[in-house]
Amino acid sequence: MSKRTDNNNFAGKIGAILATAGSAVGLGNVWRFPTETGANGGAAFLLIYIGFMLLLATPIMIAELTIGRHGQRDVLYAFRKMNGSKGNWAFMGYLPVVAGILVLSYYAVVAGWTLEYAFRAGVNDFAGKTQEEFSNDFSQFISDPLRPLTWIFLILAMTFGIVALGIQKGIESGAKIMMPALFIFLAILVVCSLTLPDASIGLTFLLKPDFSKVTQHTILSAMGQSFFTLSVGICCLCTYACYFRKDVDLFKDGLNVAVIDTVVAVMSGLIIFPAVYSVPGLSPDAGPSLVFITLPNVFQRVFAGMPVLAYIFSLLFYLLLVMAALTSSISMLEMSSSYFHKEKNMSRAKSALIMTAICMTLAIACSFSFGIWKDYTVFHLGFFDLFDFIIAKIFMPIGGLLICIYLGWSVKGDVVYNEVTNNRTITQPLYPLFMFIIRYFAPICILMIFISELGLIDF
Ligand code: ALA
Repeated sequence: MSKRTDNNNFAGKIGAILATAGSAVGLGNVWRFPTETGANGGAAFLLIYIGFMLLLATPIMIAELTIGRHGQRDVLYAFRKMNGSKGNWAFMGYLPVVAGILVLSYYAVVAGWTLEYAFRAGVNDFAGKTQEEFSNDFSQFISDPLRPLTWIFLILAMTFGIVALGIQKGIESGAKIMMPALFIFLAILVVCSLTLPDASIGLTFLLKPDFSKVTQHTILSAMGQSFFTLSVGICCLCTYACYFRKDVDLFKDGLNVAVIDTVVAVMSGLIIFPAVYSVPGLSPDAGPSLVFITLPNVFQRVFAGMPVLAYIFSLLFYLLLVMAALTSSISMLEMSSSYFHKEKNMSRAKSALIMTAICMTLAIACSFSFGIWKDYTVFHLGFFDLFDFIIAKIFMPIGGLLICIYLGWSVKGDVVYNEVTNNRTITQPLYPLFMFIIRYFAPICILMIFISELGLIDF
């Protein structure tokens, strides 16, 4: 097939994979994965997580890719077009609009923190500080009413700029630059980290499972992480798949994205855990502040006699976080703005600008919830935690369930089969397993976990 040049679709297969992988790879891999793995005992969590990636999150992601690629326009159109006459599923078209706004509004806050830390690393602000100073610095920064907003504004402005440029010139080109750079940074940092003193203890923590540490919470967290990392259930990758060419092999692409995403998560673990264990007295279960308090301290301690290395290591790490955040935030903005662009004929730049303004407004509330608005809560949750709860605990599982019911039970089998085999021009040996997961296994798993999360049943 010839290359498309209309800027409405990804031009090439590599661009499509890199952009999709970029959407999946993000703070979920470099920030959330080490946090969850550290808090849930290490290697056993990693194994369960990989199980969920293979058997649950990846098949649902492929289901999303199938729906989106069939539609070739936007998610609302995709659900209308694929379904034909059985039931009205158009409401699913609004899911990415709402979810995109909510997820980007709180994601931009943490993305903003990564910019602040890249800046601090760049001006050598970490030099000579103690763990206590890092902890105070972080608390002061996130509760400050103004400073985080500057960085949120900047990250959203960059996100807007890339989305406004369009699919090929913005999203695809951005991914082609940022994804290889991200891998190079990761590889350099892994090598440095593995050569640190006592790195083997961190390696054992990440790679040698101790199943006595597994609890119901470990299993729920592993599933939640697999959904979050692939942005499954909120039609994020479904949005990108609308721009896939008809000759893309959806199973192969989906598996490639899942593998890239898992490799990045494991590489992040290979950077963080050996580094944490190389400083006596630090522990990997520091929670969400692991990369903002523990790590800058680690960089200073382990390179105590080599300030240049401490500087380079810190700067590379936070630049890596910024890039990871950016490749995901652009897909979140695209989720909501594509609806207005494609369905309401608004220009790409105008719809992206309006969505960016809405996200900026909500992100201010999320950022304030760490400081001047920390006493304003809904169901005992501040705005940041509330948005995270709605996305990760409600939208992702319910959206995932609806996608399974839609593709597995509502759409005609022939339509699904033709789509994933590119109109029967390629074979998909895993198709029966895929359909079994989508029709039975995934819905049952999601329902059980959802009910358990609501505290109705203790499995
Ligand atoms: N999938 C995105 C990430 O992992 C949300 O950051």
